[in-house]
Amino acid sequence: MAIIRDAWSEFDDHRPYQPPISEIVRELLAEPLPESGRPPLQVLEEARTVLDQSLAQPRPRWFAFVGSSGLEAGVLADALAATFDINLASWAEAASELEDVALRFVAEFVGLKWHCGAFTSGGSVSNLSALAAARERALPGSRAAGTGGLRAALYCSLDAHHSIVRAAEVLGLGSAQVRTIPVDEDRRMIPDALDEAIARDRKLGIIPVAVVATAGTTLTGAVDPIADVAEVARRHGAWLHVDGAYGLPAAALPSMQNVFAGLNQADSITVDAHKWLYLPKACGLVLVRDPDSLTAAFGHEESYFPHVETSTHSADRTLEYSRPFRALKVWLAFRLHGASAFRAAIERNLGHARLLWSLVRDAADLEAYRPPQLSVVPFRPRVADVDRHTVRLAQALRVDGRVYVAHASIDGAQFLRPCFVNFRTTDEDVEALLSIVREVSAKVR
Ligand SMILES: Cc1ncc(COP(=O)(O)O)c(C=O)c1O
Repeated sequence: MAIIRDAWSEFDDHRPYQPPISEIVRELLAEPLPESGRPPLQVLEEARTVLDQSLAQPRPRWFAFVGSSGLEAGVLADALAATFDINLASWAEAASELEDVALRFVAEFVGLKWHCGAFTSGGSVSNLSALAAARERALPGSRAAGTGGLRAALYCSLDAHHSIVRAAEVLGLGSAQVRTIPVDEDRRMIPDALDEAIARDRKLGIIPVAVVATAGTTLTGAVDPIADVAEVARRHGAWLHVDGAYGLPAAALPSMQNVFAGLNQADSITVDAHKWLYLPKACGLVLVRDPDSLTAAFGHEESYFPHVETSTHSADRTLEYSRPFRALKVWLAFRLHGASAFRAAIERNLGHARLLWSLVRDAADLEAYRPPQLSVVPFRPRVADVDRHTVRLAQALRVDGRVYVAHASIDGAQFLRPCFVNFRTTDEDVEALLSIVREVSAKVR
């Protein structure tokens, strides 16, 4: 408990540098399987040392990828869930009912009118689950017969997360059947291009299984025009999935309603509580409009798992059997803090992105990609040989260790790509990012 408490209070402030892996830790990690037990306090202290020399996302200056904040309520919920170790494959009484409540909390938070679904390990598995439901609807019986001989395709923007391609591979549709639709200058899917791609395929007898709109791309935070994409999908009879793994919590803000317009026209959505709902990993949700669609994809009867007391088991709507009680942390966090605290924290993160954008826009020595739609702000220094310099700068920043920011390639151009999804981040951290980038950039050769 003391280790956890100390870490929490340390996370409230930024770290002066990231400690390198010490000799002590290297020796610990080289250890063979212990034959006999060690003193508990010593072993826990060693675990703390290993963790301390690892990159922890909850720190306020961790701006890489799409982070999370390790919200304390989530840590406590995980400890409680592990203690009670409930079996969620079948009906587990109050815990199973709580799962449905937590799904409803998140649905309500983002303004969704339906709330049937499942908890998953994250965006990748949520996307896969939703697309499994879409495949079964477009190609009835394909979960049993396979898709051999069937010609079917998925549609998503050029910037959709790679988990969509993976889902196509795992579901037997094939990554070659994922049509990447061009984006506009704000990197939002172009609905007319989507329409043309589906129409072209249909003429060839290729069945449109699903369109995936991204509500917050990983690369730049672009939100596809969901209402227009929904209209195209509906016209062609395709399932609409909205991948809001990163961005969808921002739909909870009244000021963002226009950005996410059309969300309720989706057939399914993905949202990750371990991203912009600040909870520790791994906690994703998939929500579907038609409650039967997940059971159509995953429902089954096995002699060792009979439906006696209830007509469905939880495992009839998820990929997993044994799984952690992820819903508990969502339920506990919303009950402890209230939805308003989450909205306020998301609003602050949007403010961090706007602050960084305006500072970069007004600086002669820096260049930003585009104004942020959500909380990703790609930017880079204005220097000679800028792409090579930016990659080296990202490496140098990692060695420096005061901020953690990854670089990303946008149409082949290299940018630093900070993403603000941490409730611990302050305006001062944003300003520090710029001054550290300038300082380190000056030393990069
Ligand atoms: C838009 C989007 N979809 C899916 C994913 C995959 O999520 P996970 O890492 O939880 O599987 C990510 C991860 O960053 C994402 O940004």
